[in-house]
Amino acid sequence: NTKTRKFPDGFLWGGAVAANQLEGAYNEDGKGLSTADVSPNGIMCPPDFSMEQFNLYHDGIDFYHKYKEDIALFAELGFKAFRFSISWPRLFPNGDEVEVNEKGLQFYENIVDELIKYNIEPVITISHYEMPLGLVKTYGGWKNRKLVEFYERLSKTIFTRFKDKVKYYMTFNEINVLLHAPFTGGGLLFEDGKKNEQDIYQAAHHQFLASALAVKAGHEIVPGAQIGCMIASMITYPYTSKPEDMFAALTQDRKTLFFSDVQSRGYYPTYMMNYFNEKNIEIEMEEGDLALLQDNTVDYIGFSYYMSFVASTAPEHNDEKTAGNLLAGVKNPHLRSSEWGWQIDPVGLRTVCNQLYDRYQKPLFIVENGLGAVDKVEEDGSIQDNYRIDYLDAHIKEMKNAIGDGVEIMGYTSWGPIDLVSASTAELKKRYGFIYVDRDSEGKGTNNRYKKKSFDWYKNVIATNGEDF
Ligand code: BG6
Repeated sequence: NTKTRKFPDGFLWGGAVAANQLEGAYNEDGKGLSTADVSPNGIMCPPDFSMEQFNLYHDGIDFYHKYKEDIALFAELGFKAFRFSISWPRLFPNGDEVEVNEKGLQFYENIVDELIKYNIEPVITISHYEMPLGLVKTYGGWKNRKLVEFYERLSKTIFTRFKDKVKYYMTFNEINVLLHAPFTGGGLLFEDGKKNEQDIYQAAHHQFLASALAVKAGHEIVPGAQIGCMIASMITYPYTSKPEDMFAALTQDRKTLFFSDVQSRGYYPTYMMNYFNEKNIEIEMEEGDLALLQDNTVDYIGFSYYMSFVASTAPEHNDEKTAGNLLAGVKNPHLRSSEWGWQIDPVGLRTVCNQLYDRYQKPLFIVENGLGAVDKVEEDGSIQDNYRIDYLDAHIKEMKNAIGDGVEIMGYTSWGPIDLVSASTAELKKRYGFIYVDRDSEGKGTNNRYKKKSFDWYKNVIATNGEDF
């Protein structure tokens, strides 16, 4: 629709990062250890509590000390919004303290103030892929209901401090990661090493409660607050037109949509209650839980989009798997993959936008999208990342098509506008940025920042409000 195919005024163009992937300073100013600090091989591998292995997350890209320089570059890009997360153990080192660690909170206020100085809207993820290790050791992670109270304290502390400065929040990054990386998503460890769905879904229930309490508190404390959920979208196509493949795709999609269904619609869907029944999963609930969920649904649907998936009932298709950040999947013969095996599918973004908007009728916020690739610094110092420009160009075009379809989209924050440590593989050679960071996967380099070719390209996208797409 050419008439409606236009980015609205005030569209939140920008970039997104997570504390544990760029801050570094993992033990400075009173910060406690987080689950990321013991995950030297990334979120899909078991933790190493000995802390003996080299861990890139510990120093990140030193954003903790370089944030002013980095935010100045985001301002030069013309960012309207910057999404970042709060490291929970920076505020509450063990997670169960009553008093906040002021130095930690002050660090985030400095970031917020710096953003506001440049008219960049801060967008806060309350919890992104990490939690205080103390909550794992003392309480067993999110399967313990005590965590709801600790998270509520965390979120209220954030809202109270930033109520006059920050309007946009989201409660848990990719909340559905619990299913795929339960240690990162929920601080869960299993005695026999095998994922236990009982614990996973109990932990999910507690996170839903914590999220609903945050929505409630945010609405009470912050004037005009917009509090969203955040899922890793994983749209699934049937491999063939066989009805069974279609049903397999639907079933796979429900694993993801279950999370946004509860957070946005405010109740447990029947398909999930049936699944629990079938698997003898019993979710412990207290009186008032369901009413809390029902009364405190999210204001918008935040999601990440990197790739699409395929479901097939034919065993031969399931033999050859391709990689993904959270889930390995059946290969799609129609798509190319990134160097990490993620299947590149711009049209899938348009479909996801339509699917989510049809389902929830709430504004969408695309809070992650991007291409992880190896960059080469040329002899003249330039970085010709045309592949990144192509990827983003194609996705932004499809986002605009979705707007033309009538989907309400609030903004787009590309993942990792500055190179940072990857989540699934804990390396630095997988780069997403418009800004190159001179640090490699072994932790060597000057940590200096350089603009890539994509820097000027994205700057122009924002300056023209995407009119060329
Ligand atoms: C998302 C996460 O799943 O994907 C980010 O929210 C992550 O934390 C991003 O970094 C890209 O994944 P990766 O593994 O390439 O860093």
